[in-house]
Formats: sequence, C-alpha cells, structure tokens
Amino acid sequence: MSSVAPFLHPFAPPARTRDRFLTIVSGDGATVTDDTGRTYIDAMASLWYANVGYGRAEIADAIAAQARRIAGFHTFTSFTNEPAEALAARIADLSPFEEPRVFFCQSGSEAVDTAMKLARVAHGRAGRSNRTIIVARGRGYHGVNYGGTSISGLPVNREGFGPFVGSTMTVDPEDPAKLAAVFDAFPGEVAAVVVEPVQGASGVWPPPPGYLEAVRVLCDEHGAYLVFDEVITGFGRLGRWFGAQHFGVRPDMITFAKAVTSGYVPLGGVIVGPEVRAALEADEEFVLRHGFTYSGHPLAAAAGLANLDIMEREGLLDRVPQIARRLGGGLRGFEDDGRVAGVRGVGGMWAIAMADGVDEGDVAAAMLDRGVIARPVPGTVTFCPPLVIDDDQIDAVVDAVDGALP
Ligand SMILES: Cc1ncc(COP(=O)(O)O)c(C=O)c1O
Repeated sequence: MSSVAPFLHPFAPPARTRDRFLTIVSGDGATVTDDTGRTYIDAMASLWYANVGYGRAEIADAIAAQARRIAGFHTFTSFTNEPAEALAARIADLSPFEEPRVFFCQSGSEAVDTAMKLARVAHGRAGRSNRTIIVARGRGYHGVNYGGTSISGLPVNREGFGPFVGSTMTVDPEDPAKLAAVFDAFPGEVAAVVVEPVQGASGVWPPPPGYLEAVRVLCDEHGAYLVFDEVITGFGRLGRWFGAQHFGVRPDMITFAKAVTSGYVPLGGVIVGPEVRAALEADEEFVLRHGFTYSGHPLAAAAGLANLDIMEREGLLDRVPQIARRLGGGLRGFEDDGRVAGVRGVGGMWAIAMADGVDEGDVAAAMLDRGVIARPVPGTVTFCPPLVIDDDQIDAVVDAVDGALP
C-alpha cells in the first residue's frame, strides 16, 4: 500500500500518495524518461522553462567547472564574481533597454517581489513616496511570494493565505479603460503596473491588439512604472529575447527567470531600465537593502551563460515561427472541427480551450497515456515545448491531442 511520502509537493494535494507521482529520471532534447523507462515528449518544457531542452552536457560542464573553482560566494555589499558580472552584461545587451542594471535572485516569485519593492523605493528616492499602489491584471500569475500573491489575478491561488500586502489591486485584464479608472481614482499614488505580456499560467492569453501600447501610454501619462513580468516570455519564447521586443512596447522593468538557464540551475532577476536606475543611483549614499543570500550565485550564472551560448549558436529563437505554424496550426484544426472551444497562442505558447463538458484533466491524462506531457489548467490545456522540439515531435503532440479529445 502506498502512503504519503515526506516530500510535500508544490501545487498538489498534500494527501496525495507517493504512487500518484510520475518519477522523472532523465531527459534528452524535448523528451523525458520516467523510472520505468518510458519516454515522453515534453510539450511544456517542464514548467515553461526548458527552452534548450534536456541533457545538455555543455551546461553541466560549465556548472561543474565553476563548482570546482568556487561554487558559491555572496555578492552583498562589496563582493562580486565574474560569472554574475558577465551574465548581467549579457542580459543587459539582449534587453530592450539602453544601459540597464540587472538584479539577480533565484525565482520568478522573487523577481516579481523585487520589482514591486524597487518600484516603491525608486519612487521614494525620487521624492514620490506617496506612490505605493501596485496594479496588476486580473487572470495574471506572478508567483507565490506575498507580493506576487497579493497582485495575483487568480483568486484560487489567494484562498487561505491572507491578509495580503496593502495598496495592491487587480483590474480587468483586457480593458485599458479600467486601468485608466484606477489612475483617476488614485491620482499620483500608483507606483507600478505589472503585466505579463502574454498571460501564461492562467491558460495562455495573448494581449488584445493595442492593449500593451495603451497601458504604456497610461503609465506615461500618470507617472507609473510599467513592469513586464517576462518569467515565461523572456529568453526566446516568442521568437525574440523578450516579449517587449516582440510586441514593440518598452516597459520600465522586466522580471525574468525560467529560460534564462533553461532550468539547469534556478535563477531569476529583474532588468532595471533607465528611469528606475537613475532614481536608485541618484544618491551615492543610498543603500539598496534588498537582496538574497544567493543573488548572483556563480553556478546559476555559469549555467545562464552556457544556456545563452547554446540559444545563440543554434539559432533557437528562429525555431519559434515554425513551432507557431506547426503546433498552432495543428491545434487550430481541432477548433475548425468544433472539438475544442478555441485555440489561443503566440510564438511558442499555445492553449486549447475545452468544449462544454470536457475536462482538461482527462484530456491531459489521455495525452500522457499517449506519451505526451501537456498541462491542464482550469478550462484549458497548455503547450510550451522546448525550442528544440522537431517537426515529427510536434506532429506527435498534435496526434496525441487528437487521440485524447472526445
Ligand atoms: C509570469 C510569471 N511570473 C512569476 C512566476 C513565478 O516564478 P517561480 O515559480 O520561479 O517563482 C511564474 C511562474 O510560472 C510566471 O509564469
């Protein structure tokens, strides 16, 4: 008889017994293998992150070489290390900003909370300490720390965890007029608006045409910073390094995580654009009292550098239009047949909306039986394959959907 094991799993019922978890032991390219030797096509890049795919010896070697030199040494106050400096410079070059700064943490949740704190402290340094309100879009996912939970647009993820961080709110995710109303209701008080360029975890929602542009204009008119949460869209997912470049809208800060290392070592961060940078640097005596023990960890930075080498050398961003055509096109066939209620997506992020009476968990389970991992979220099954997925594997994903849909 199987029992509950010591590992308390994230986003799972604590009472779930050990036998109900699939044990993944290895991976290669766009596939992973379980402890019975069964191989699956991973149509989700794990959890939206394994852009270069699995089993990259080059990244493992870079991590090992750095670990032999020195695995970790902190970067607080007056210490630094070469991999962190090099990765920050590289990310700055790839970003849509002129001469940004790059803050490092370990996760997307920490990145979001960091951006929220930076927005408030930067306004304060610039003499605008009444600007404290953080606004986010309904339906948004911004991680699970208290900042990100407080601006979560997914009520179910807030249940039982309150009270939350003050001066936070969410607005309609598609109507810029609702955001304008918040600016009007709280003149001079909004510090930042936090936006996923494409909402991912809630089921892949590309922005309505003109939405991001309208939010940028409102933030400019009302003096608020615009934060793009690019934890999923950053590092190639839409075919450009950042969603900001894909959509041609420049935020003031960008949060990132996931594909910066393709998950080989946890790493997140915030790219700080010129306005916020200037506010933080204005007073040479000011100390940024925010940071994590492992900010700028050398192993994560070494993994990030090797990961970016691979993405550039193999031209993986150029694979994205083909993924969009073949995966997006394949999925749209089910919409034409009326077997799904809709298909949403852009670049390497896709979703099928379930028809009435069809359970997304059943569809994902039936796909798993057919050797394909997709992700069920309420009303939807999502797809976000490693950028190395080949055409035959994409076709196998579409075939698995075909077999799994009623
Ligand atoms: C847009 C966005 N922000 C933040 C996060 C939180 O990242 P993490 O799980 O690394 O803390 C996620 C995770 O999926 C995300 O999609």
